[in-house]
Amino acid sequence: MTDIAPAPPSAPPARISTEAGRRRTFAVISHPDAGKSTLTEALALHARVITEAGAVHGKAGRRSTVSDWMEMEKARGISITSTVLQFPYRDCVINLLDTPGHADFSEDTYRVLTAVDCAVMLIDAAKGLEPQTLKLFQVCKHRGIPIITVINKWDRPGRHALELIDEIQTRIGLKPTPLTWPVGIAGDFKGVLDRRGGQFIRFTRTAGGATAAPEEHIPADAAHAAAGDDWDTAVEESELLSADDGDYDRDAFLAGTASPTLFTSAALNFGVNQLLDVLVELAPSPSGAQDVDGERRAPDAPFSAFVFKVQAGMDTAHRDRIAYARVVSGTFERGDVLTHAATGKPFVTKYAQSVFGQQRSTLDDAWPGDVIGLANAQALRPGDTLYRDVPVQFPPIPSFSPEHFAVARGTDPSKHKQFRRGIEQLEQEGVVQVLRSDKRGEQAPVFAAVGPMQFEVAVHRMAAEFNTPIALESLPYQVARTVDPADAEFMNKQVSAEVLTRSDGVMLVLFSTPWRLEGFQRDNPDIELGSLVAA
Ligand code: G4P
Repeated sequence: MTDIAPAPPSAPPARISTEAGRRRTFAVISHPDAGKSTLTEALALHARVITEAGAVHGKAGRRSTVSDWMEMEKARGISITSTVLQFPYRDCVINLLDTPGHADFSEDTYRVLTAVDCAVMLIDAAKGLEPQTLKLFQVCKHRGIPIITVINKWDRPGRHALELIDEIQTRIGLKPTPLTWPVGIAGDFKGVLDRRGGQFIRFTRTAGGATAAPEEHIPADAAHAAAGDDWDTAVEESELLSADDGDYDRDAFLAGTASPTLFTSAALNFGVNQLLDVLVELAPSPSGAQDVDGERRAPDAPFSAFVFKVQAGMDTAHRDRIAYARVVSGTFERGDVLTHAATGKPFVTKYAQSVFGQQRSTLDDAWPGDVIGLANAQALRPGDTLYRDVPVQFPPIPSFSPEHFAVARGTDPSKHKQFRRGIEQLEQEGVVQVLRSDKRGEQAPVFAAVGPMQFEVAVHRMAAEFNTPIALESLPYQVARTVDPADAEFMNKQVSAEVLTRSDGVMLVLFSTPWRLEGFQRDNPDIELGSLVAA
C-alpha cells in the first residue's frame, strides 16, 4: 500500500459551496429521433466547447472527431465521458449526463436520472409526447426532478404551439410555463418572443446549422416592423398564456409541477443559447442528498458519492468495469482513499478517469454534481455509497418496473456452478433483474428487464466472461406488480399470471397484458398490488 498518497486535506466548506453552486447537472429525456444528439452537439457548440457541430457523438454521416476532441479537452480543460459531457458556460460548469435512449433503452437510462438535479424534456414539435418520453417523465416525476421542456424542430412543419402546451398539461399534469414563444408557425421559425424581457430574439440561419446561429435582440416596439403579423400573433398568444396562469413560477418548477418551456431548432442552432441561459439562471445546483436515515448530507460536508451506473466490458482486452459515481458532497481528488459503505472496506481511487468511448483521460478532482468514473471497481454496484471521514449511506437505487421477461437456462449442464455465479454477478451489477420461484427452480431463473437490450448484454456476458452460454426463452408477460406474500397462492391460480420473488425478497406478480391486470384489479378490489417505479 506504499504507493497510496495520504488523503489530501479537503477544501474549505466555503469553496465547496461555491463550486457546488456553479454546477448544473442534468440529463435530456426524449423519445428516439426527437433530436437529443443534435441538441447535445448544439449545446456544446454554444458553450464554445466545439467550433463546429458534429464533433460530440460522431454519429454515422456526421463528422467524427474523437481525436480532435481529446486535443480540445486538454487545451480547454473540459472533460467528456461516454456518460457525461462537462463544459463551462458563463460562470457555471454544466454536466450533461447521457441517457442511452435508443435501441439500448434499459434500466441504465432510468438510473442516470437518479444522478441529476434537473431534466430537459425534449419534444418533437410534430409528434408531441411520445412513449419513451412519457416513461422517462414518470421517473422524473416520481423523484421530484424539476423539468425544463424544450419543443424542438420548430423549423419543420408541426403542430400548433398552444396545442402542444395543452397536450403536456392535460396528458401528464405538468404545467408548461413558456419562457420563450415562437414567432412564426412550425416550419417558419423566425425567432422567439422572450416572455420575460418582452423583446424579439431573431434567429438567422447558417449553412446547415453547423455553426452557432447569430441572434439579434429587437425591442418590442420595433418587433412588428421586423416580423410582421407573426409578432402580433406571438404577443396575443403570450397574453393568453399569462391569463391562463402560464407564467414562470420558481416554486412550482422546483417542485416538479410546472415546467419552464422553450422552443428550439437544435439542427439550426436556434434557441439553444436560451436553454443554456435558463440552465444557468433557473436550474437548481446540487443541494446534497438524504441518507437512509432521512438526514441530509449537505454539499459542503466531507466527500460522499453514490454509484448510479456500472459499465462492463468497454475494453475487451482488459475485461474492465467502470463504476460511475455522482458526487453528493465534498471534494474528490484522485488518489483519495474512500470507504465503501456496503463493506466498510477502503476504496482506492488512483484509477479515477473520465472516459470517452474507448479513450480515457485521468480525472484529477471533482465537486458536488460532478461524475467520477472509477475503473476496475469490481466491488462497486449501482446504489453503493462511497465516503470519506464522516460515514454516510444513501438509499438504494430503486428497481424499475420490468416489461420484458425470459427464462434463462445454461446450455452446458456441467457448468451449473459457473451459471449460478454468473447470474448472481449480473444481478448485483443490475444488468438484469433476476426473479425466482420454487416451481421454476434455481436452474431456470427469470430475467426481467426494462428494455430487451439488457437480455442481449446478459447473454453475451454469460458466454464471454463466465464461459457459460445460456439460452433465453421469452415469457408472455408485459407487466409486473408487487404483491403481498399472503396473496401469492391466490395470485398463482389466476389465468395468465405468475408470482416470482426478487433477491431482495420482494414478491412480484407478472401479468400477460395491462388489460389482464386491469381486469384482475376490477374483479378483486381487496387484493392490493403495488406499483414499481416507472410502471
Ligand atoms: P436522437 O438523438 O434524439 O435520436 O435524435 P438526433 O439528434 O439523432 O436527430 C434525429 C433526426 O432529427 C436527425 O435527422 C436530425 O438531424 C433531425 N433533427 C434534430 N433536431 C432537429 C431540428 O431542430 N430540426 C430539424 N429539421 N431536424 C432536426 P436524420 O435525418 O436522422 O439525420 P441527419 O442526416 O440529419 O444527421
